[in-house]
Amino acid sequence: MKAITIEPKKAGSAQLENVSDPDFHYGSVLVEAIAVGVCGTDVEMVEGKYGWAPPGEMRLVLGHESLGRVRDPGPSSGLKKGDLVVGIVRRPDPVPCPNCAVGEWDMCRNGQYTERGIKEIHGFMSERWRIEPEYAIKIDPTLGILGVLLEPTTVVTKAWEHTLAVGRRAFWEPRTALITGAGPIGLLAALLGVQLGFEVHVLDRYQSGLKPELVRALGAAYHSTSVADVGFAPDVVLECTGAGEVISDAISSVGASGIVCLTGVGHGGPVPTMPMADIGSSAVLKNNIVFGSVNANKRHWYKAAEALARADRSWLARLITGRERPEDFAKALSRGAQHIKVIIQFADL
Ligand code: BGC
Repeated sequence: MKAITIEPKKAGSAQLENVSDPDFHYGSVLVEAIAVGVCGTDVEMVEGKYGWAPPGEMRLVLGHESLGRVRDPGPSSGLKKGDLVVGIVRRPDPVPCPNCAVGEWDMCRNGQYTERGIKEIHGFMSERWRIEPEYAIKIDPTLGILGVLLEPTTVVTKAWEHTLAVGRRAFWEPRTALITGAGPIGLLAALLGVQLGFEVHVLDRYQSGLKPELVRALGAAYHSTSVADVGFAPDVVLECTGAGEVISDAISSVGASGIVCLTGVGHGGPVPTMPMADIGSSAVLKNNIVFGSVNANKRHWYKAAEALARADRSWLARLITGRERPEDFAKALSRGAQHIKVIIQFADL
């Protein structure tokens, strides 16, 4: 079968190649790939900056934002042939650490977790893949191709859940949320913020085009200024750019007792000019919390599937701005700034 693979940490090594059929040890459920979303992590891996092959192998099958159709449900999965499923990305570490032991692998303490298509286990960018029944999430069939948005929705579901959990440390009546970045993560974070009843504001550098349209279609406000110029002190900032200057602006502009949740994974960039002690005293004097959030556990997958099923389908459909065939995977990976989510489509629905 065909699969899109890389040699991790080697830039430009991505290729569409023939690989053997998925090994049974990956799980008893056999799935035919329909589509796989491409995200910043995939681009980083293709650029040789991230990613790990399975032990004893040279190459890794990419892809962690999956959507597939069950071809063989196996003996005891509770699934049926034809069901639409999405694969959970992370697997608990083998020790396991206390968090992995209780199913919170997204909070793994020892870093020995594995991730499909990212860290030591093959991903979903292959014509067929296998999965353990307990890691296959069945989606509302009426979502169709939009099910490919489930994985990024799980990431923001966790970010919101944790933000609200840390807010409960004291009396807190949050009203306003600022989302920095209007890529897929930022827009899905905005969708969930609206569903949660927040007054949502989204900030991105584009002044016109699809991003402001999608934000306004949610009933949220769009800003193309800097964080410091949005004109209010947000109760919550969900940072989805990973850009240093946006992060430091978010920390200094969040309101008293406000929370900054960092979800963007950035690298380098200019060193912020605000001295660390000033950032610290601003956080102390306003009782702020700044925390990071990555990945998602099964509870978030379940909640994200519910949130997607509740969302306006035509709005979700506008997030998918590009579809490429596996042979054209390079085009999907070099997606231009005008794109939101580009998917690689392996089969029709
Ligand atoms: C994925 C997460 C993963 C993280 C770090 C993200 O792109 O969506 O599932 O945990 O990368 O590898």
